[in-house]
Amino acid sequence: MVNYKDLGLVNTRDMFAKAIKGGYAIPAFNFNNMEQLQAIVKAAVETKSPVILQVSKGARNYANQTLLRYMAEGAVEYAKELGCEKPEIVLHLDHGDSFELCKSCVDMGFSSVMIDGSHLPYEENVALTKKVVEYAHQFDVTVEGELGVLAGVEDEVSAEHHTYTNPEEVIDFATRTGCDSLAISIGTSHGAYKFKPEQCHVDPATGRLVPPPLAFDVLDAVMEKLPGFPIVLHGSSSVPQEYVDMINQYGGKLEAAIGIPEDELRKAAKSAVCKINIDSDSRLAMTAAVRKVFAEKPAEFDPRKYLGPARDEMEKLYKHKILNVLGSDNKLSC
Ligand code: G3H
Ligand code: 13P
Ligand code: ZN
Repeated sequence: MVNYKDLGLVNTRDMFAKAIKGGYAIPAFNFNNMEQLQAIVKAAVETKSPVILQVSKGARNYANQTLLRYMAEGAVEYAKELGCEKPEIVLHLDHGDSFELCKSCVDMGFSSVMIDGSHLPYEENVALTKKVVEYAHQFDVTVEGELGVLAGVEDEVSAEHHTYTNPEEVIDFATRTGCDSLAISIGTSHGAYKFKPEQCHVDPATGRLVPPPLAFDVLDAVMEKLPGFPIVLHGSSSVPQEYVDMINQYGGKLEAAIGIPEDELRKAAKSAVCKINIDSDSRLAMTAAVRKVFAEKPAEFDPRKYLGPARDEMEKLYKHKILNVLGSDNKLSC
C-alpha cells in the first residue's frame, strides 16, 4: 500500500475548489509514454499550471499500470528539477470500470480515480460509485463519477450514441454516492470524429466545418441543481485542423475529423466545469510531427530524431490549451 502523498502527488479537492472560484479549468491530459509525460510536465511548469495526469485502460494495457505510476512519481521530481518547488500534479485513473481496478490504483498511489458506471442502469451506477468512494475516501483519494453517456470510439471506450445527462438525477447521484466530481454528457465525445459532416455547417470565412453547439442548457441545469459542485467534461479535444492537414499532407488519411470548437471550451472552463479531458489532440500533434520527419528525412532512423520533434509539438499544444483555452496558467507559486 502506497499513499499518493508520499509520492508528492495531490488529490483534486482543493484544485477543483480553486478552479471553480477562479473561473478556469484544470487540464486532464492522458499519457501513455515518456515523451507525452515530459511534454505535459514541461508545459505545466512553464505556465505554472496545476495538471492532471490520466491513465486509461488503453494506457495500462500499452505501458503497464505500475510503470505509469512510477513515471508519475518521476514527473513530480522532474517538475521540481525544472524549477517548480511545489508542483500540483494529480495521478488519475481515467474510465475505471470496476471496484477492483479503482482499489488497485488507490493502493498503488493514484490520488484520484474515475469510476465510470455511466453505461449501467442508474441504481447500479449509484451502488458501484458509492462503493468506490467509501474505499477511496479512507485514503483521501478523490473520486469522479459519471452520469450520461458520451458517444465515440477509442481503444477501450466506446458507445454509439450519446445520452445527455439528466439534470433531475444529479442531486440524488452526488448525495448518495458522495463522489467529489461529476462527468456529464452535453454533446462532447471521445476520439477525433466527434461529429458527422452532415451535422455541421460550413464557415464561409474559413471553409471549415462548424459542429452544432454543446448543450449548455444541460450544463446550466446541472449547475443550478448542484451549485459549486465540480463538473468534468470528457471528449474535449478540438481536433486542430492544422494537425489534420499536416497528417494528410505527409501521407496520412484522416477524413472529416471534427472536434469541439475552442470557444465552447473557453466558455465551459469559466463555469463549474473544472476538469477538461484532452487526449486525441495530443495524438494528432505527435502523429503530425512524426509523419513530417518521416516524409522530409526518409533516411532518419534514430527514434529520438522523430520523437523529439513530436514531444516539442505536444508541449506547444499543451501550453496552448493551458494559456488560451483553460486559463489554468499562473496558479502555482513556483
Ligand atoms: O477516454 C478515452 C481516452 O482517450 C483513452 O483512450 O483507452 O484509447 O487510451 P484509450
Ligand atoms: P478526447 O478523445 O476528446 O481527447 O477525450 C479524451 C477523454 O475524454 C479522456 O477521458
Ligand atoms: Zn473520457
